[in-house]
Amino acid sequence: MRNVHDNVLSCVGDTPIVRLNSVTEGLQAQVYVKLEMLNPGGSIKDRIALQIIRDAQEAGDLPAGGLIVEGTSGNTGAGLAMVGAVEGFPCTFVMPDKQSEEKRAALRAYGAKVVVTPTAVEPEDPRSYYSVSTALGNEEGAYFANQYHNPSNPKTHYNSTAPEMWEQMDGQIDAVICGLGTGGTITGIGRWMKEQDRDVKMVGVDPVGSLYFDYFHTGQMTQPHTYIVEGIGEDFLPTTIDFQFIDDLVRVNDKECMVMTRRLVREEGLFCGGSSGAAVAGALKWVERNDSPDLKVLIVLPDSGSRYLSKIYNDNWMRENGFLDDDSGLGRVRDLQKRLGKRELISVSGSASVNEVIGTMKLNGVSQVPVLEDGQIQGVLTDKVLLEKALQRGGGKTPANELATAEFCTIEPDEHVAVLMDLFKRYKVAFIVKSEGKRHQVLDIITRIDVIDFLSARTAGGK
Ligand SMILES: Cc1ncc(COP(=O)(O)O)c(C=O)c1O
Repeated sequence: MRNVHDNVLSCVGDTPIVRLNSVTEGLQAQVYVKLEMLNPGGSIKDRIALQIIRDAQEAGDLPAGGLIVEGTSGNTGAGLAMVGAVEGFPCTFVMPDKQSEEKRAALRAYGAKVVVTPTAVEPEDPRSYYSVSTALGNEEGAYFANQYHNPSNPKTHYNSTAPEMWEQMDGQIDAVICGLGTGGTITGIGRWMKEQDRDVKMVGVDPVGSLYFDYFHTGQMTQPHTYIVEGIGEDFLPTTIDFQFIDDLVRVNDKECMVMTRRLVREEGLFCGGSSGAAVAGALKWVERNDSPDLKVLIVLPDSGSRYLSKIYNDNWMRENGFLDDDSGLGRVRDLQKRLGKRELISVSGSASVNEVIGTMKLNGVSQVPVLEDGQIQGVLTDKVLLEKALQRGGGKTPANELATAEFCTIEPDEHVAVLMDLFKRYKVAFIVKSEGKRHQVLDIITRIDVIDFLSARTAGGK
């Protein structure tokens, strides 16, 4: 008998790799995708679910028939529930309300209990899915799988996903590209690749709204905000992510994710979820910058399209969210820079006093100013913060770095203006940066009015 198993659990892993042929048109590199949606529970998370349970059993933390609790965007839950169904562990999952109904239904189908929590609250809020899942997981007799802080998560990808990829590709991989949620995938694969001294670039893809991108490039914890793509990006730093194994991060907006997800189905026949579209959209931006006929890139596609039928595969939902509009002609950030012309970058050093900063701002007629140290961003100072300080007795002597806030975002010149517009829904200031891995050089500072000016000049005939 061939490919016959005792139960479904030994079907986890060993997923196929397929070459992309259509969405890569115009690029010279060879781009491949690993089909993790073909795991039996429908996603890459089957791998970690199995490992988390085996490690918990071995450590004596999960007795036979013990309750498994997890805060999950759906896929880890499906993996845990699948193991639970086969081995008799009841499961309770906590899910944010932005997740699709199909994901909840899938968990209930395995016999799991699902608790839904609001998305738009801070992680520390007692109603957040982190708080609720931690509270339930700490209850007597429960085992909290805790994918955001469980070392079994990255260990899974170190032990199985990375060597599996390497063997399948016969060692011919120049870059592995994937989305970051817990960061377990990129960290585990990255650690394995670097330890073996494999010269493979690890590239992460992060949605607009998540804090990973700016944190990676500037070391600052900027303000996260909600976004639509599911399964990737975070508003806090999980311990399962280790940035030392990441060589580069690329940013995508919701629309780029959704549009690419649909193209993957229509043009490549790959029925996948939004984070797969995100991974491919981000990967193609990276390939564009590093393209060559010898370049071989492998992208991880985490889950299947079946969990997004009421969203990404529903035209009304896509239209309501503006994902079917065509804003591809807006150009790149470097076009906007050209339009703004060569400007002197007004900045202050961290040691400048409030009084000196106010002087610089008055002289140049600006209402916010970046605080730079060695060309690296320490934060921004706004007129609002300065006013508050100037009113305090002796406040004028306070050094800039004590008042700088992380109310900014960064963007690269070859990024699409549409992505910048999404960022400006939340942030007031963007730094245009040239990044080389974790080093970045600030080229310019852009505000909403600059984008309005750029767009109105375009509609007025490009003058
Ligand atoms: C659909 C989907 N894609 C990607 C990821 C990211 O993988 P990781 O958590 O290993 O970073 C997740 C994680 O939750 C996911 O659910």
